[in-house]
Amino acid sequence: MHILGISCYFHDASAAILRDGQLVAAAEEERFSRIKHDFGFPSRAIQFCLDEAGISGSDVDYVAFFEKPFVKFDRILQTAFAEVPKSAAVFRQAITAWLLDKLWVKNRIRETLRIPPERILFVEHHQSHAASAFFCSPFDEAAILTVDGVGEWATATTGRARDRAIELTHEVHFPHSLGLLYSAFTAFLGFEVNEGEYKVMGMAPYGRPRFVEEVRKLINVDRDGAFSLNLEYFDFQHSTKRTYSDAFVKLFGAPRPVETLFFTEASGFPSYFGDRPSNYADLAAANQRYADLAASIQAVTEETLLTMARAACERAGSTKLCMAGGVALNSVANGRILREAGVTDLFVQPAAGDSGAALGAALFAHHQILGHPRGFVMQHAAWGQRHSMDAIRTAAAASGFRAEECRDEDAMLDRTADLLASGRVVGWHQGRFEWGPRALGQRSILADPRRADMKDVVNVKIKFREPYRPFAPSVLQECADTYFDTRGASAQYPARFMLLVEPVKEDARGVLPATTHVDYSARLQTVVQSASPRYHALITRVGRATGVPVVMNTSFNLRGEPIVNTPEEAISTFSRSGLDALVMDLMILYKA
Ligand SMILES: [Fe+2]
Repeated sequence: MHILGISCYFHDASAAILRDGQLVAAAEEERFSRIKHDFGFPSRAIQFCLDEAGISGSDVDYVAFFEKPFVKFDRILQTAFAEVPKSAAVFRQAITAWLLDKLWVKNRIRETLRIPPERILFVEHHQSHAASAFFCSPFDEAAILTVDGVGEWATATTGRARDRAIELTHEVHFPHSLGLLYSAFTAFLGFEVNEGEYKVMGMAPYGRPRFVEEVRKLINVDRDGAFSLNLEYFDFQHSTKRTYSDAFVKLFGAPRPVETLFFTEASGFPSYFGDRPSNYADLAAANQRYADLAASIQAVTEETLLTMARAACERAGSTKLCMAGGVALNSVANGRILREAGVTDLFVQPAAGDSGAALGAALFAHHQILGHPRGFVMQHAAWGQRHSMDAIRTAAAASGFRAEECRDEDAMLDRTADLLASGRVVGWHQGRFEWGPRALGQRSILADPRRADMKDVVNVKIKFREPYRPFAPSVLQECADTYFDTRGASAQYPARFMLLVEPVKEDARGVLPATTHVDYSARLQTVVQSASPRYHALITRVGRATGVPVVMNTSFNLRGEPIVNTPEEAISTFSRSGLDALVMDLMILYKA
């Protein structure tokens, strides 16, 4: 039995395919279309899934869509009507987009796949999120927590799950939304909504949460985890342009100008920013205030999630917790949930945002609607496209770069470990690309985390990121507790998906300067031998060469582009950046 899950028309479109309940392939459309956060109908991702399964569209038994379009349209209409005439623009935009495309997704699926309408199932948005976590976890039972911007009506749910049934017992409804609260601050701090949330999280450690009391005026949180927003501070209900209101600006002052340089006294002024501006001290002070605001919204978000996690576990009578929804990508909060919420076992879907809901919808159909038993655990995130050695040879030959094909995996790993140990920055393109937003050693840029200057080197050569975007360490799982104070969290699934921020041990801070954030934390990835054997073998060799089994890992893409998929895209990125070498399967390309 094949079930195809689809998510689209909102954030990150994607497709995923199950065969008899086992995941065969899953990918976001952006990796094929090369449009970042592509939300259009995921024709290419669907075709990729069918190809991987070796079937055609009409062989699919069921298609599961990640939400209920008519219920969502109803929410948008009701919300818009309630606020007319303020919401006229939202109303017009919604009507146009929905009548053109979104409501007719069933027809689009029918035409694309040539399957009868009764084989197309619509799963509620938060049921899809919940299923994407629980049915990928190894747990027989667990509490459930989903938190995002908004689905149909729900913006957050808690519930319980056992075997093949998930029951969402509590919901918070739009416009009360923790995701939209965080997004309002993301916009206020000068970043793009649905893209810059990480930057707010990364900026927070540069600040002190001295505006927590002000932020608490925006959200009321009950002990049972229910919350409501104070709507006078927001405009997202009736505006397509601005998420926060004049009252918000009155409370917090002027918003940070879009995409301006961020630096404070603590961060210093990185060399790759160019010359110091003459009003450096004024700008640093202004940025400090914004960092304090970031710290404050982050603190309130963490408190709220902790309250919700505790309430979910208490009601479910479980210490195991499954999380999904875009807010579950807040890896600092996830770390605290494991440390402080009484949670013994945590699973977070690596594609916690809306792309992951495609997989969740398919799993929900398989287990909860059709009643099939479970038997799948998501051990790794490598579910995307693989490219053959022949394809790599052809691309390498056409590139004009000096290329060396290693005789076997050992030779390739030895050579790559040598490059990293000698301070080279390496593009690493191996196997199937990752599911979800993080690069986890399939499409990564790797470097030596022991070198204090490596952050600047990679920023100058490749990434140009502000200091608030720390680079992540990938560490052998069995060695994680040597460097990080995880108190057992390194053995948890979110650690292998880079979804936990943990303290760096005091004596390791000097060992890993390039991946240790300003507050001595790190968003670590633990690398498990059985799940990621080649990446594990590489880091083992790096450990032998340097004494430290850790590499610095950042996603293989240039600023503003999706992570690379094909060998050609990897070579293009290699040629347009300061990467020293590019390793694709057994092939190594050099600049000189
Ligand atoms: Fe969502």
